[in-house]
Amino acid sequence: VDPDTPPDTLSDRSLRAVAQLIKDGAAKQIVVMTGAGISTAAGIPDFRSPKTGLYHNLARLNLPHPEAVFEIDFFRDNPEPFYLLAKELYPGNFSPTISHAFIALLAKKGLLRMLFTQNIDCLERAAGVPADRIIEAHGSFATQRCIDCKTPFPDDQMREHVKRGEAPRCARDGCGGLVKPDIVFFGEQLPEAFHSNISVPCAADLVLVMGTSLLVHPFAGLPRRAREGVPRVLFNLERVGDMGTRADDVLVLGDCDSGIRKLADELGWRDELEALWRGV
Ligand code: APR
Repeated sequence: VDPDTPPDTLSDRSLRAVAQLIKDGAAKQIVVMTGAGISTAAGIPDFRSPKTGLYHNLARLNLPHPEAVFEIDFFRDNPEPFYLLAKELYPGNFSPTISHAFIALLAKKGLLRMLFTQNIDCLERAAGVPADRIIEAHGSFATQRCIDCKTPFPDDQMREHVKRGEAPRCARDGCGGLVKPDIVFFGEQLPEAFHSNISVPCAADLVLVMGTSLLVHPFAGLPRRAREGVPRVLFNLERVGDMGTRADDVLVLGDCDSGIRKLADELGWRDELEALWRGV
């Protein structure tokens, strides 16, 4: 490629090639990996974007460091900051974006092998991605339990406590431990489903990475598990991880919703995508 090809033309041409791969039926096992960047357009801040990221806005909670809000040891002593945040992030107040809808459309067309998400907002489920095609690597707000005796805590009572921004206590007599949503905190194990599906990316014939800084392992290691020669497409504001280091990598830098709409246009799926998105 001549060096002075403007990057957008390069990615446009490559995006056309990715669309052709899908149209030719040569990409039927698509593995998607997502992070908070696909939910910012839904109104949910991501973690590390300067100014708007959650970690830049937690200063008011005078935490020892921003990530403490998701650290299990800190939570045991101070559950308040997490529950203040939970009140803002709790599912039910946000709708899926066009990027979430695109993943649901891939599933509808039988092309989604698996979605690995780091997000805890359940917007993939809301968009219609089948539960058996989603690995919520960092858990989600969907369920909660006592951090001591692990007894599940009722959803309706949880919703009430979260609305009031207060930490519920385990109802099992003699326990009284703190209740926490099944979100993976720093220092906790990822769900078993993540580990048992860790080899899925090497079965992919196309990998889409969307809206993630690829800074938190083991999730951040997933894109490297794609086989050499399998195209890996990054939809992100900026380059991240090892994306762009392989000959078949495609970098679609910028807002993920715009990149996804461009891909949908190249596929001839735009009307179907917008209709599916309006219907969620
Ligand atoms: N379009 C494209 N990219 C975007 C958009 C957007 N509209 N908005 C944000 N981004 C990009 C940011 O530039 C950044 O590269 O998405 C990425 C978001 O990165 P993070 O905020 O670090 O979020 P994420 O990668 O999901 O964080 C991983 O860190 O705090 C832990 O467990 C938490 O799951 C989280 C993990």
